[in-house]
Amino acid sequence: MAQRNKRLNYGPAKYAAFHLLLCRWMRHHAHNGQFQYITLGGTELRDIQSLHYVDHQCTCCIISFEFGKSEYELACGTRDRVHAIGLQVDVRRGDIFKFQRGGHEPHLFFIDLKGCCVLSEYDEKFAGLLSDEHIRPGDSLFITSHLGARRGWTTLLAEYAEELDTLEVAGMANRRLCFRRCHPSFTLFRALHLIGFQSVIGLRCFACVEYRDKLRWHYSGIRSLRALQLFSN
Ligand SMILES: C[S@@+](CC[C@H](N)C(=O)[O-])C[C@H]1O[C@@H](n2cnc3c(N)ncnc32)[C@H](O)[C@@H]1O
Repeated sequence: MAQRNKRLNYGPAKYAAFHLLLCRWMRHHAHNGQFQYITLGGTELRDIQSLHYVDHQCTCCIISFEFGKSEYELACGTRDRVHAIGLQVDVRRGDIFKFQRGGHEPHLFFIDLKGCCVLSEYDEKFAGLLSDEHIRPGDSLFITSHLGARRGWTTLLAEYAEELDTLEVAGMANRRLCFRRCHPSFTLFRALHLIGFQSVIGLRCFACVEYRDKLRWHYSGIRSLRALQLFSN
């Protein structure tokens, strides 16, 4: 359980995974020119500092959402500190799923969740952003998701039986592996399905990195960071 007024300190494995994915995305999948970077705040804005380190000119706008009051206040302090090194971040108190697009440039969303993105309301939340075109073809998403196995493999695999059968994944071990690798894509595909866009927008997953994270107050466990790109079918 998170304690209030505490800084969120994530370990090096998380940022190694993030750098790997970011650099791969930039090399193979980013459009020429600048993009808007929309992210979840936390308190340290570490992903934003990583992005700035990799290429300080790659973004035209950085927006960081944080709905926690104390986290938001700490994030504002971090924003003021990084401003001194030329890094401009628009830190907003609010829900990232209420984001309203303000430009036509490609957007990179980093949905850096602390929990798991399945068996939750995330498919409906993504559906809202997609149906209102705040996320569009040409945009990319990185999603962090805990693997969710605490819920029990029987429950998880039963819930995603239709997806796994469609992909013709047979056998418990293969179905588990596929779930580990694909579950954020399943969430986004369900979001597209909810709004009838499954034949209008395609999803391409181009990388998945698993890392082990340990926090003082949090569980330790394996998380996967997954990179997806949207395109018009
Ligand atoms: C994993 S941390 C972000 C860490 C940050 N990316 C970094 O590397 O420094 C996720 C943060 O997002 C916040 N959060 C989770 N869901 C959110 C949402 N829907 N809208 C806004 N903030 C959210 C949580 O309170 C938490 O502080």
